[in-house]
Amino acid sequence: MTWYEIFPTISTSFIALSAILVAIGWRLIILRKREAHEKTMIAAAVAAVLFFLMYTSRTIFVGNTNWGGPESLETIYRIFLVFHIVLAMVAAVFGISTLVLAFKKSFAKHRKLGRVTAVTWFVTAITGVTVYVLLYLMYPGGHTKPVIDAIFG
Ligand code: HEM
Repeated sequence: MTWYEIFPTISTSFIALSAILVAIGWRLIILRKREAHEKTMIAAAVAAVLFFLMYTSRTIFVGNTNWGGPESLETIYRIFLVFHIVLAMVAAVFGISTLVLAFKKSFAKHRKLGRVTAVTWFVTAITGVTVYVLLYLMYPGGHTKPVIDAIFG
């Protein structure tokens, strides 16, 4: 395995882990275990931040991966990828807002937004893992330049 494959494997595992923690955290609050809910959701947020740091550093220093599958599927793949990226950005904004509401003790609003955040994060994780499977397992792709090389040559 090269660095091109190791980074995405680890970062994708962090998205999956984060989504699993959100599911566990949701279950815990349904069971009225507030403290455990808080700790589990903070762990989920840390996993999401670690994913984001890995993803951005890979984009800067290693580079992204091009579509390597059949040309006939490329457009569909690109639409799917954009959907995943937009969803991830929405989930990040919702996630931060959900945490802020919790720390401000606005629990009624937190509860409403928390449900939307959790579902958005589940779909983000599922689409993220799908992108990983398409790019690295089903059709190993080509590599693009790291952003740092594109800028500094
Ligand atoms: C991004 C992280 C978080 C998410 C996605 C999240 C999600 C949720 C969800 C979905 C519920 C409603 C459960 C239901 O009724 O079906 C909820 C309730 C609750 N959350 Fe969170 N939560 C997060 C972080 C936190 C944190 C950090 C705290 C503590 C400071 C917290 C405290 C609570 C409390 C006390 C409730 C119960 C509110 C009530 O029943 O009125 N949550 N959360």
